[in-house]
Amino acid sequence: MDIESIKARLDSEINQINSPESLEALRVKYLGRKGVLAQLTSSIPTLPQEQRASFGKEVNALKNKVIFLLDERQKSFASLVSESRPGFLDLSLPGIAQDLGRLHPLTQVIKEICDIFTSMGFLVVEGPEIETEYNNFTGLNIPLEHPSREAFDTFYIAPQATHPSPNAKSRQHTAGSSVQQKLLLRSHTSSMQISVMKSRQPPLAVVVPGRVYRPDAVDAAHSFMFHQIEGFMVDENIRFSDLKGILEFFAKRVFGEDIKMRFRPHFFPFTEPSAEVDISCIICRREQRRENREEKKCSVCEGKGWLEILGSGMIHPNVFKNVGYDPKKYTGFAFGMGVERIAMLKYGINDIRLFFENDLRFLRQF
Ligand code: DAH
Repeated sequence: MDIESIKARLDSEINQINSPESLEALRVKYLGRKGVLAQLTSSIPTLPQEQRASFGKEVNALKNKVIFLLDERQKSFASLVSESRPGFLDLSLPGIAQDLGRLHPLTQVIKEICDIFTSMGFLVVEGPEIETEYNNFTGLNIPLEHPSREAFDTFYIAPQATHPSPNAKSRQHTAGSSVQQKLLLRSHTSSMQISVMKSRQPPLAVVVPGRVYRPDAVDAAHSFMFHQIEGFMVDENIRFSDLKGILEFFAKRVFGEDIKMRFRPHFFPFTEPSAEVDISCIICRREQRRENREEKKCSVCEGKGWLEILGSGMIHPNVFKNVGYDPKKYTGFAFGMGVERIAMLKYGINDIRLFFENDLRFLRQF
């Protein structure tokens, strides 16, 4: 082997090294047990006696050169990956990702639902979470002694807080009695039926999203605070079929065109007739697959095949009287739904507390 040509090749090979792997490959090629230098060394005894010493020296020099060059190359790689090298800026490294904020899943669902209703001409109105007892109960035909009050009797504002603000005063005035001056955290967004109808004239089509409060112990299905969307439409000749058509359009948009709906008679003091509205279970789809009745009970609909999504009905004539509308002239419907419930069904969430714990592992999924 010709040492000069080996040296020439070595230089170009060293220059071509572009990764720690190719560096290692070259090291093995030259310095490995069967490498170039080992072969040269083992060829020394085959040479004529007088050439051996000088050839041996050249081999040694070549070996030192190889070790030196590979070492240099190794160092340049090491410093490339070292972050501590002052002033070194690797523009090819990925940047530091910024966390982007996003809307809370409940806000997203509220927006989606309101968008569906505004697409049908409804107006979105928000109202106060601190309400008069009149708007929350009495105006809605729920008298003081009515048993249905108990289910959503709420948090009253402490007496010293009832020194009314100018705003509250005007509401108390329109309510018109001393009992009605009490303030409370609203237990449903239906309270906005009263203030909206008092301040506007039909035709009206309104949805009201917002927080409501109940004296409920917190568990997987209950929270002392949650969100509702109330909706109502008032005009001459508004009929139950209008309610059905609009709710069906809404439910199909949210849960899918293939769902079925049913209206179950129910009682609410502020609507007559009233109905609870169910959709076919979107989890087990039992209604759609009647042949599988024997299968394990669906944990969401409990095997019933139906899920309650809201309460609704035709606005009670007493409510119209309370806001000064002529019940002979106007008719209307109203409905109210829990946003958490809709979101839990839509996304298969099994614990309402997840919405309020601020756990980013949950929130980032939306
Ligand atoms: N306000 C009721 C509740 O919180 C929900 C409701 C039921 C609203 C029937 C309505 C309705 O407008 O017609 O339980």
